[in-house]
Amino acid sequence: MCDDELIPPRADMTEEQWVRDHSETAAGGPPMRTTGRVPRFVNRRTLLGGAVAGAALAALPWGAEVPASAGAAPRPGAPDAFPFPQHPNGNGEFSVLITGDAGTGDEAQYAVAAAARDVCRAEQVGLAVGLGDNIYENGPESDDDSEFQDKFEKPNTGIDVPWLMVLGNHDCSGLIPGSGGDPSRGDREVAYAKTSRRWYMPSRYYSVPLPAADPLVEFFAIDSIPWSSYVAQVDPYYQWDGPYMREQRSWLDGALKASRARWKIVISHHPYLNNGKHGSAGSYDGFEVGHYTSGVHLKEMYEQVVCGRADLILSGHDHTLQVLEPTARTGGTRQVVCGASAKTGDGKAHFSHPAAWQNLSDNGFMVLKVAGARLTIAAYTVDVATRKATLAHRTRHTTPVAAGDRAGAHV
Ligand SMILES: [Fe+2]
Repeated sequence: MCDDELIPPRADMTEEQWVRDHSETAAGGPPMRTTGRVPRFVNRRTLLGGAVAGAALAALPWGAEVPASAGAAPRPGAPDAFPFPQHPNGNGEFSVLITGDAGTGDEAQYAVAAAARDVCRAEQVGLAVGLGDNIYENGPESDDDSEFQDKFEKPNTGIDVPWLMVLGNHDCSGLIPGSGGDPSRGDREVAYAKTSRRWYMPSRYYSVPLPAADPLVEFFAIDSIPWSSYVAQVDPYYQWDGPYMREQRSWLDGALKASRARWKIVISHHPYLNNGKHGSAGSYDGFEVGHYTSGVHLKEMYEQVVCGRADLILSGHDHTLQVLEPTARTGGTRQVVCGASAKTGDGKAHFSHPAAWQNLSDNGFMVLKVAGARLTIAAYTVDVATRKATLAHRTRHTTPVAAGDRAGAHV
């Protein structure tokens, strides 16, 4: 979660338990901030019988069913959607803007987007990535919530390319902002893709090979939320060992294995490794117990399915910029954190994973350049007052971690 938000008092509470516990321990203090809505699978009678329910919860709308999630089954995009690049740009590269945790609608988001727009023109960017927390604080209220305009379309006007979007914990808020306690909320972001020229999210997890017919690079977008939500999942479908997460894991394993792309890039909201305050998967926010809050099952998935098979894991969640070093632990996979496109970190390195470069205090974004012979990550910091970007770091890869059958085909 973010600096101005709540951290659960212990791991794996349900939202109902968390809210009740807060009420009992903070008597006389300010009321706990909630989203004003109840996840569809929370038992209403139980919730309203809790110590904190009160009149506000009693007044909530109820019974609006959300369609079952589509998983990896793609849904059609907007008829006038910006097309995916099918050829390298004039520099012989596929150039990709990387942003994360951008959806505030405030000045910093606009400043980062304006700075990125200039760099996108100069670098002939043909694709963009949004690494989750796309709509702060509570995620969209409907498939056509005006927040999609205010916190995505308007800031990013002029960056007229497809945006590969992944879900963040705020996009899946339940009763508590940013809890990740209602994954079904993410279906609204899948539905929005049907009407946006930019927003690409054909399903909750998906892959995009470029070029489609003879891929040089393939992006694998995953939904990390139910494996690392701040609260225990109530809906059996989304529990850590439930059908949704089993299906996603199986899909990713098969998709990575089947990919013929030279470069493979996993994009997800929650990082595997992280030097920022939220920490790494398996011990998020200091929790090392339970199935959810610590992210222990996301850690297992990264280590068993992704490490040594993907070249990069691109993540947000922490509002920092980090280009961590590939190590034996990662099987040669490099973790990149890019979650400072609207919010900023606390300036401190809380952990000491080897880093090629990191900035824990400034806003910024990155540009990924993909060519046959090299993968280049360029990190930019942004001065919000001037809306100008500064190139702060550049890292290059020349050897894919696992190029598969097509190794060297594009060199
Ligand atoms: Fe987040």
